[in-house]
Amino acid sequence: MRNIFLHLHPSNISESSLRFNRTFGLGGMAALLIVIQMITGILLRFYYIPSPAEAYNSIIFIKNQVLFGQFIRNIHYWSGVFLLLIAFLHFLRVFFTGAYRDSRSVNWIFGLILLLLIVFANFTGYLLPWDQLAYWAITVSTNIIGYLPVIGESLRDSIIGGKELNAGTLQTFFAFHTALFPFLLIAIVFYHFWRVRKAGGVLLPETQGKSKMVPVMPNLIFREFIVGLVLIASLLIFAALFNAPLLDKANPSYSMNPTKAPWYFAGVQELLIHFHPFFAAFIIPLSVMLFLAWIPFFKYNEPPNGHWFISGKGMESSKHTAVFSTVVTLAGILFNAYVLNFEMVMHGVPALISNGVIPLLILLLLMGSYYQFYLKGFRLSKAELVQAAFVFIMVAFILLSLTGIFFRGKDMELTFPWNV
Ligand code: HEM
Repeated sequence: MRNIFLHLHPSNISESSLRFNRTFGLGGMAALLIVIQMITGILLRFYYIPSPAEAYNSIIFIKNQVLFGQFIRNIHYWSGVFLLLIAFLHFLRVFFTGAYRDSRSVNWIFGLILLLLIVFANFTGYLLPWDQLAYWAITVSTNIIGYLPVIGESLRDSIIGGKELNAGTLQTFFAFHTALFPFLLIAIVFYHFWRVRKAGGVLLPETQGKSKMVPVMPNLIFREFIVGLVLIASLLIFAALFNAPLLDKANPSYSMNPTKAPWYFAGVQELLIHFHPFFAAFIIPLSVMLFLAWIPFFKYNEPPNGHWFISGKGMESSKHTAVFSTVVTLAGILFNAYVLNFEMVMHGVPALISNGVIPLLILLLLMGSYYQFYLKGFRLSKAELVQAAFVFIMVAFILLSLTGIFFRGKDMELTFPWNV
């Protein structure tokens, strides 16, 4: 009861959990960014008007007339971007230290829910300025939902409240962005914190687990304070140097070229260029999500040891898999763009087969061969194998996203970033 921070932490913790390279302070940074988002969001709300006629003008007013309006808008925008990147890095650190299993498996699942919530909080905020960028980015992204089988079209129409974006869409997105998602985020983050404590704190390697216990105050609190200050300073510098984007007011009859989805959906948009929508928007993302959610529940032979990448062998196989994934992804993108377009070559064959089943089978065959003729030689444990699969997916996802964000220009053709 002496100190509010002690409700979040135990009074003593193991000295080795203080090491920066255990967590990099990423979970704490994500929590701080959520707080910054809430504060700046409330400030913006004083002037923002959620209607297609007024939204854009209210943003212009905030930019030009409100004291520090542009700066607050920049902080809100960049803390949303930082939050997504930092939560993603936190998710990678949790995975690569093996902290997703046993008493931590529930927290892994809630972590995934948090990651999705952050994506959708960003996504719903993206539409609010109602400029060309927002209008067309949300149009292409919601069109992706329309590709889902059977329910796709009607699901898309009910999310946006009609055939194209309208006043209802803006109001729904506004309500989700300012009420539902913040509420769920806060509630789940508290639960997430509680579960970290319930699991006995951060997972530590056995050798370090028995290290000396030290009081949280000042040892941990002081470190958290420094990390928080550095984060806030970087965010402020960023917000001072780079303005949040704002183009012309939305014009539904003049589409942008290229029309890109928000950067966190660029990977899925890139997949749509290479695979039939049924696979790109449904089968592949769903399989990846199911795999991620199932990771804690595979039958592993040994308990997690808390070491980065499990072992030397785990580290080596991850590096090799990262190279393999890089080669397959980049070669696939270039091959599809410049050498062979399955749909064009196989005239008369349904696109679902030529552009879906066939490229997917080729990909699975490559992955199977890599496993059979190369990875098997490492004699990996189940956890190390799951790790290799995770590395393959993450590297492919990051490369697809980078290609979509930086290397797609007019008509979504491949190009260099300086020509985009
Ligand atoms: C809003 C987003 C999030 C916040 C604020 C948050 C916060 C935290 C904090 C403060 C910790 C304590 C250790 C640390 O700082 O790393 C932690 C641990 C943990 N987080 Fe998160 N987290 C978030 C998202 C996620 C995501 C996306 C995942 C994974 C899917 C995840 C899974 C876990 C797990 C399993 C632990 C326990 C780790 C261990 O025992 O070593 N969290 N989280």
